[in-house]
Amino acid sequence: MCGIVGYIGESQAAPILLDGLSKLEYRGYDSAGIAVYDGDNIKVQKAIGRLKVLSELTHDGATMPGVSGIGHTRWATHGAPSNINAHPHFNQEETIAVVHNGIIENYLKLKKYLENKNYHFVSDTDTEVVAHLLDYYYKGDPIEAIIKVMHRVEGSYGLGIIFKAHPEQIYAVRKDSPLIVGHGKDGNLIASDVPAVLKYTRNVYFIQNEEIAVLSGEDIFFYNVDGEGITKESTTIDWDMNAAEKGGYEHFMLKEMYEQPQTVRDTLSPRIKDGAVYIEELGMTDEEIRRIRKIHMVACGSAYHTGVTAKYVFEGMARIPVEVDLASEFRYRNPILQEDELVIIISQSGETADSLAALREAKGRGIQTLGIVNVVGSSIAREADKVMYTWAGPEIAVATTKAYSAQLIAEYLLAIQFAKVRGEITEAEMASYLKDLQKLPEQIEMLLSNKEKIQHFANRYISAKDVFFVGRGLDYAISMEGSLKLKEISYIHSEAYAAGELKHGTISLIEEGTLVAAVLTQEELYKKTISNIVELTSRGAFVLAVTNTGNLEIKKAADYVIYIPQTNRWFTNSLAIIPLQLFSYYVSVGKGCDVDKPRNLAKSVTVE
Ligand code: AGP
Repeated sequence: MCGIVGYIGESQAAPILLDGLSKLEYRGYDSAGIAVYDGDNIKVQKAIGRLKVLSELTHDGATMPGVSGIGHTRWATHGAPSNINAHPHFNQEETIAVVHNGIIENYLKLKKYLENKNYHFVSDTDTEVVAHLLDYYYKGDPIEAIIKVMHRVEGSYGLGIIFKAHPEQIYAVRKDSPLIVGHGKDGNLIASDVPAVLKYTRNVYFIQNEEIAVLSGEDIFFYNVDGEGITKESTTIDWDMNAAEKGGYEHFMLKEMYEQPQTVRDTLSPRIKDGAVYIEELGMTDEEIRRIRKIHMVACGSAYHTGVTAKYVFEGMARIPVEVDLASEFRYRNPILQEDELVIIISQSGETADSLAALREAKGRGIQTLGIVNVVGSSIAREADKVMYTWAGPEIAVATTKAYSAQLIAEYLLAIQFAKVRGEITEAEMASYLKDLQKLPEQIEMLLSNKEKIQHFANRYISAKDVFFVGRGLDYAISMEGSLKLKEISYIHSEAYAAGELKHGTISLIEEGTLVAAVLTQEELYKKTISNIVELTSRGAFVLAVTNTGNLEIKKAADYVIYIPQTNRWFTNSLAIIPLQLFSYYVSVGKGCDVDKPRNLAKSVTVE
């Protein structure tokens, strides 16, 4: 997620902007910039890389005098990291400057509309559309122009805006991307998150969706999307800086788990247009999609687990053979790769050494490659022939949650598009799939809301020595991720097993009280997995079942049941993982482990 800061008051704005941005660095970014009104014009300075570069360029803001301005740290979603793509963005006359957090879903359509009206774009960003659209609608009243833009723009945005013709104000607008206003003693501030303003004030207003804030040095006014004035209550923030960076959550991992509904929306919504899947950056023709004879899914860790999920979904929906490989195996096993096959590399960081090596192995053999990546401009994103982004924003916790969920969404969308192009699903089936996908965010929200129940259950297992996760088909894929989550943050030994495989050896490990998490979301496999559960409980296991609402059979077999809402059989992994994430999180917290930075682990494994 990008970071936004704005200031207007009696002090020099640039040092305050740089300081505020430094408090947002934890969110992750690839470039930064500030815009300050110097009494005559709006001056902008941007820099790729760390904020330090921008501070040095501006001598900690000294080279940019002025008492009002906006600043930004960019996490690239559209357009690679570069000075040109860094924010703030100007209109052509440089009389309006904008910083943005979020995704403008209809930016291409708006860009074409504006280009037809002789607007010229300099960047590859979606944000620049906002600067030109404000220019297009501005006839002397900033609020009127802002409201017209709000009616045209689709997607999520937190905006900071300054108008050269109105230097006594700065403006903030919010839809889905958080924005706050801070009321300070010698000036007022806007920010995308509380840490940026705490040094100056603890008296903040949380801007709600489709509200506009207008700040002068002394006053703050709020308006709704109809331009009517509204009054808002301020909140006094009592968090310390550490808690503020986590948005009040105890750990980044919990914060990121609770960002999953929005992450799913961000990865999904821009790609569903007029009832069809539209992956703008993919650039694969229907002919290319029809020609694919086999797909190789290659990744590491949790990304690999989404590849196992994707195998079932692609084979089930698109009837394309899929082979899944650990990247560290793929790169050395001299894989058999043939013409018209596709190698898909899945990677949150886009820098995992084994996954990058696997990509290069495939490319070296002339096989087409596609990267499903979260970090724009990362090595895998740049080197793969095709790319699809997951738009999860920066993920701070080492144990992935929201990026994992975003990878699943990307894979579902790809499978639906491939299935449709290859004539394996009808329009009606596609519409049904898309409808189910669009319900996932609120279903994830619902599952996250019963965290107390799972916390209570988890507390019973903080001394567990061995925990098993079992399932069949897609439920086996989710068992893998559930097991890894528990291992990596609680240091408890765990294994994921195909439920049908237990009797071939592992069941000898089951003792009185051994916890087994059984996942049952594939109705046609319920009975089979239930019989495995009976095998386990008859040997003393305590079985936690994660299953679909309505599966009452399970109560006769399992000791504890967590239900997930009904969704399409292909998408159940996106829901079943939520209680398993919460379970692992609370076991780890109960054991006093370092949840966000578990021992021996790195966020991105850039070495073999
Ligand atoms: C997930 O919780 C782990 N941190 C790890 O397995 C991770 O998924 C793996 O290292 C792959 O990383 P990548 O997605 O950045 O390539």
